[in-house]
Amino acid sequence: MRITFTAEGTSKTVDADEGSSLMQVALANDIPGITADCGGNAMCATCHIYVDAADHARLPEMAEEEDEMLAFTGADRRATSRLACQIQVQDRLESIAVQVAAQQS
Ligand code: FES
Repeated sequence: MRITFTAEGTSKTVDADEGSSLMQVALANDIPGITADCGGNAMCATCHIYVDAADHARLPEMAEEEDEMLAFTGADRRATSRLACQIQVQDRLESIAVQVAAQQS
């Protein structure tokens, strides 16, 4: 399945395997900006992304720990903010577009 990341003003569409997190997909494809300091445990907020508003409804619901950690993002939290490590690639996310937050800590 394909995911489009926009980071530092450049967009890149990449293939993503089901079961990976969007954070893992970003790192594997050298998408700049995501540092993922905690390794995907919803404890650092350095994998902050903004999901395109049109795609936001297709995402899985946010768990409480993700919601709480989004209070500690380096860039402003928006209505479409998510932690990339908490979103698993699955069929219903085909062709979603996400933007990497400019500041991660
Ligand atoms: Fe740390 Fe996502 S990698 S919160």
